[in-house]
Amino acid sequence: MVTLATQPRRLEHVLSSDQFDRGLLEDVFARADALAGRRDTRLAGRIMATLFYEPSTRTRLSFESAMLRLGGAVIGTEAAREFSSAIKGETLEDTIRMVSQYADVIVLRHDQAGAAARAAAVASVAVVNAGDGPGEHPTQALLDLYTIRSELGSADGVHIAFCGDLRFGRTVHSLAQLLRLHEGVRMTFVAPEVVQVGSDLQARLAAAGVPFRLTDRLDEVISTVDVVYQTRVQKERFTDLDDFEAARRSIRIDRAVMRALPRRAIVMHPLPRVDEIATEVDEDPRAAYFRQARNGVAIRMAVLDLLLG
Ligand code: NCD
Repeated sequence: MVTLATQPRRLEHVLSSDQFDRGLLEDVFARADALAGRRDTRLAGRIMATLFYEPSTRTRLSFESAMLRLGGAVIGTEAAREFSSAIKGETLEDTIRMVSQYADVIVLRHDQAGAAARAAAVASVAVVNAGDGPGEHPTQALLDLYTIRSELGSADGVHIAFCGDLRFGRTVHSLAQLLRLHEGVRMTFVAPEVVQVGSDLQARLAAAGVPFRLTDRLDEVISTVDVVYQTRVQKERFTDLDDFEAARRSIRIDRAVMRALPRRAIVMHPLPRVDEIATEVDEDPRAAYFRQARNGVAIRMAVLDLLLG
């Protein structure tokens, strides 16, 4: 049994990165450090339901692995749109009311922004937002930040270039908000106009005094960054095929880009990747995306422990 300082439970749901302050982040990361690689029985008898209305590999399986490693049990549906009563016309709210009777925590992925908050409003158990359309993906942001800290020592003072689909990429929205809590962070948003970062996030960063700029040229900043955070163009969110095509031709990380990247910098990606990072980059020690994915289990153990422990 891992011994952790007993902290009062401070989280009812995990819906947005906005809920976290530095103290809570330290708590999550300390729990992740203590639980990484362990087996425990602290959540024995507790049940987690995964309700996924959109595809997932890493998020769902790492949540399930985390719950099992803590001694809990897992139920769920990975194709909730087809294999739940949604197909019969049941509302999300009614489904959540039901699943609240069967589980102690609901991990929800949905195609609509705000779905997790809607679920939490009617749930009688904890709800975790595992991605709500183009909205947020807060547990991904936690594991991303945990990765930056473990790779670079600290997130304070980093210059991060977010690349790819910054308009629909929910992991970007959540991570930028967590980084806002750190000293001296600079952000460059590298994307063509059609997928540039939204004005709402820009306004929040400006209000927090975070220096950031927008460009469509990675070569302008590559030699000064500590982190390149590349993302997949979110094909499923485009209504205009021309916009998708314009976005798809955007920034690609290959060996030539890596030559300009500082020696101590890292390349991250929430995965899955399509062709926005060439596979030739994988063998470069600065390619951190598979190490990043591995951190998902420890972080989700920490989140489940915080919610249910
Ligand atoms: C991302 C997601 O679903 O938002 N993947 C993930 O959870 N690791 C990124 C993506 O789908 O491109």
